[in-house]
Amino acid sequence: MSSNDFISIVVTGAAGQIGYSLVFNIIRGDMFGTEQKVRVVLMDIEPMLEGLKGLKMEIEDSCYPLVQEIVITSDPKTAFTNVDYAVLVGGMPRKEGMQRVDLLRANAAIFKVQGKALNDYAKKTVKVLVVANPANTNALIALLNAPNIPPENFSCLTRLDHNRAKAQIAMKANVNVKDVHNIIVWGNHSLTIYPDTRCGYINLPTGKATIANVIKNEAWLQGDFVSTVQVRGAAVISARKLSSAASAAKAITDHMHDWALGTPEGEYVSMGVHSDGSYGVPVGVIFSYPVTIKNGVYSIVQGLPIDQYTREKIDLTTKELVEEKESATKILAEM
Ligand code: LMR
Repeated sequence: MSSNDFISIVVTGAAGQIGYSLVFNIIRGDMFGTEQKVRVVLMDIEPMLEGLKGLKMEIEDSCYPLVQEIVITSDPKTAFTNVDYAVLVGGMPRKEGMQRVDLLRANAAIFKVQGKALNDYAKKTVKVLVVANPANTNALIALLNAPNIPPENFSCLTRLDHNRAKAQIAMKANVNVKDVHNIIVWGNHSLTIYPDTRCGYINLPTGKATIANVIKNEAWLQGDFVSTVQVRGAAVISARKLSSAASAAKAITDHMHDWALGTPEGEYVSMGVHSDGSYGVPVGVIFSYPVTIKNGVYSIVQGLPIDQYTREKIDLTTKELVEEKESATKILAEM
């Protein structure tokens, strides 16, 4: 929490669709609670500043009492100075015909600059969430360029995949989403992310039941359910002709809310964090794990059973992240 009576948060790429939804979640109190004042810095590239002026006007006109200050800027020093939280939404989107390595290269340049700016200007306790794709590796690049900030303070968004998995289970089981607990998504925010329901449960009027016992369809849980979650981002793009925005903003809000205020006893959520080697994933990639959070500190849930199917899925997404890390390291060395 801030030492002042307000929290300072920067959102990059704030003039985009995610920013438009996210900023209202923040100032309504969905992220840090309905008593917590917020100073919100809306950052974007110079050509987007005019649009941000309009957003600022709308914020003022909405009369939200938690607003301490709204700053709009394209300057990293102004944006990152003394912030408590940073949500990095702005990045280079994939264009038609672009290879993954080209996307990595374009984003490496952006996240190198932002990592350095965080290092130089933000509070050393700043908590960083990277949303722009490839989110895990962009978060790693920022982390590698911010040696004064602990690696545990960098994360990437996989809560969107987590929420998608939870919603699919709730719909299949015909229960309310609030009754579905302890879903996990492992690995990379990409087509290899692995949604795992084996440790999850559903609260029924008759008591707690495992997801497998309620759904009673192992083939679906290991087949269509997994692929639906993995391709959901692409499915939204294909239907909307735009990527997920409000659901991404909600997932960002959930991620930051839980990181700041903690998870309920016994409840775990998924977060892309700096691997400590847990579950056989090499140290030093940003990997989505099940975590619990207390006093602003997350702990990777330990000791969960890993069967052969899960092992294969974790290994596949790990391999992709290790390759991305190798490419990013090469790209950074050439810069
Ligand atoms: C999503 O999961 O919705 C996005 O990461 C998809 C995208 O490529 O923007």
